[in-house]
Amino acid sequence: MADKTILRALRGERLPTPPIWMMRQAGRYLPEYRATRAKAGDFLSLCYNPELAAEVTLQPIRRYGFDAAILFADILLLPQALGADLWFVTGEGPRLSTITGPEGLRGLKTRDDIHEVLNPVYETVKILSQELPKETTLIGFAGAPWTVATYMVAGRGTPDQGPAHKLKDEDRATFAALIDLLTDATIEYLSKQVEAGAEVVKLFDSWAGSLKDADFEEFAVKPAARITKEMKARFPGLPVIAFPREAGEGYIGFHQKTGADCVAIDNSVSPEWAAEHVQVSGCVQGNLASRHMVTGGQALVEETRHVVEAFRNGPHIFNLGHGITPDADPENVALMIETVRSM
Ligand code: CP3
Repeated sequence: MADKTILRALRGERLPTPPIWMMRQAGRYLPEYRATRAKAGDFLSLCYNPELAAEVTLQPIRRYGFDAAILFADILLLPQALGADLWFVTGEGPRLSTITGPEGLRGLKTRDDIHEVLNPVYETVKILSQELPKETTLIGFAGAPWTVATYMVAGRGTPDQGPAHKLKDEDRATFAALIDLLTDATIEYLSKQVEAGAEVVKLFDSWAGSLKDADFEEFAVKPAARITKEMKARFPGLPVIAFPREAGEGYIGFHQKTGADCVAIDNSVSPEWAAEHVQVSGCVQGNLASRHMVTGGQALVEETRHVVEAFRNGPHIFNLGHGITPDADPENVALMIETVRSM
């Protein structure tokens, strides 16, 4: 097991060629994904269908031979398991029932009641752990509490996470209780994924960048630290990847403050900056801009080399700075991988 390249990088080893995977690698840019999704019906039916969710997880592994597969699911399945209504509006994104005060919080289930809804996800992990090639690492994941809370409070994605900030600032006790519930439930959710066969877990804090100073410490750092500590207590040696997207200076010290083995880097900082300030304390993942998967060409090759060179002196997992978009060209993904592996 220890010889899988992703696990070696996560243990702090500098490899001559960085291992590579891609956020949203199973997705709408792939014709085979669109075909399987059409078979499932809608997106959520795909997430809760273990055979088909495993199939779309495997598609980019078959096509490209990525070093890791990420479980196909969504960060919003956990709120649904806690009792929130959830649906997706085509072309617009997720919708959920909202939580605007203490009564909304009281209406939710407890961390022990989530598994009935989430069992199909654990089933997907089990299938994958049997079907993935031996050299491929299986990554499980959850949304970080702050990011999940921004959707639960607003009932949808928001440009500035305004409703969550409002609840946090006007009724801190309710907001803090929601974060605590999500932290506890995330630990139970990730634990079941690991028991089913996930070898690494990743926490997606997509909106960490909108938290500043004391709020960043309280609602981004503290929950990530608590989840990491408890997961490592339950599963000694389990590697954890944290993604406090657009945290800027908040990235500095994130390994030490949370205990995460790897910090994923978005595109708002240069790889040189991240090498100097973040990679000094552990493995980093990232951070080619997703737009190169749309535009391709010489710029893609040069930027890919730039990222690899900048992170060359320490442990690095090559990835994009955020998810690949539906308008990406599958040929560009092949070119990126070929460029990384020929360096
Ligand atoms: O990376 C992977 O391939 C694993 C699967 C995965 C999905 N979503 C599948 C998905 C993961 C890790 C996520 C995480 C996720 N989901 C995040 C955090 C990471 C990030 O991108 O910032 C967030 C904020 C969500 C919530 C979410 N899910 C939104 C806002 C949307 C709609 C936007 C969009 O791209 O359409 C989704 C839908 C979603 N999740 C899709 C996929 C493949 C597209 C659904 C489809 O097929 O129509």
